[in-house]
Amino acid sequence: EDIAGLAAFEAILAEDSRIEPRDWMPEAYRKTLVRQISQHAHSEIIGMQPEANWISRAPSLKRKAILMAKVQDEAGHGLYLYSAAETLGTPRTKLTEDLIAGKARYSSIFNYPTRSWADVGAIGWLVDGAAICNQVPLCRASYGPYGRAMVRICKEESFHQRQGFEILLELSQGTPAQKQMAQDAVNRWYAPALMMFGPPDDDSPNSKQSMAWNIKRFSNDELRQRFVGMMVEQVKVLGLTLPDDQIRFDEETGKWQHGSLDWNEFKEVLAGRGACNSQRLERRREAHQDGAWVREAAAAYALREQRVEVA
Ligand code: ACO
Repeated sequence: EDIAGLAAFEAILAEDSRIEPRDWMPEAYRKTLVRQISQHAHSEIIGMQPEANWISRAPSLKRKAILMAKVQDEAGHGLYLYSAAETLGTPRTKLTEDLIAGKARYSSIFNYPTRSWADVGAIGWLVDGAAICNQVPLCRASYGPYGRAMVRICKEESFHQRQGFEILLELSQGTPAQKQMAQDAVNRWYAPALMMFGPPDDDSPNSKQSMAWNIKRFSNDELRQRFVGMMVEQVKVLGLTLPDDQIRFDEETGKWQHGSLDWNEFKEVLAGRGACNSQRLERRREAHQDGAWVREAAAAYALREQRVEVA
């Protein structure tokens, strides 16, 4: 092991400063980052599907334009994150191959179906809300390229959340049937959104080390509880309810408590047996095949430009 490198690495962490791509880092730190960043990138890319499902059926031209822009933002997030992962030495082609081979993880949440227009609102409000809650602390992650990518991503996610909130608010203030549609979407997305934060702390093998490395700043349960506290207030403004009658603020611990979650369902989804896992991967494979000619054309163009420069 590189003793001077390790000392420098530890000194950077001790002063809560940043590790950059050319700095020496332990292999396990590099591996953890590639694992988390690539999982995150894949989530952004697969996450385009459930919402894209509603682009052609958005209720107005304005809603359609907003949703298209939002789905494109998610693609952009995926690209920043793949670039951040590449600075650690793993090429994007390899990450994509792992994803389409079904060997890589992406967030559990994107394996749930979008059944109504209100689901687009619930995704913006709950799913992007949970993403912000999880990702704002990641802006301070010790690995420079990851933390910097997070800053811009979080700004865009804030717009996304407001967009979702506004869809739900309009439905909730609409006809009784529209309000019911909004409530139904919130009922279905609430628990899966809480599971986005990962397994409970005592069942989270990576948390301790990731926190020691200043990658994660808070534990899965801490962030989940913080999120519940935010949603409890926002749902009142929406005029809807959360499907959880056990939520309470525990004066003793100063934390929000939520009802129990079905961690068996979470495990099933992670094992590839969620409602839409196979459909999501199939669609991603098709898109990759359909894009082959674009990649070939871009590579041929780059090669020609290079030759022109040399000549
Ligand atoms: N969906 C799928 N897999 C998950 C989820 C989830 N919601 N939560 C945890 N896991 C996986 C972990 O990746 C890990 O598996 P691995 O070791 O094969 O990678 C395993 O479950 C155990 O979990 P933890 O030990 O708690 O893992 P970790 O410390 O990485 O924490 C967390 C998980 C909180 C999701 C973390 O990786 C993280 O903050 N990632 C960045 C945010 C992110 O990926 N967001 C994507 C969804 S939001 C969006 O993009 C719109």
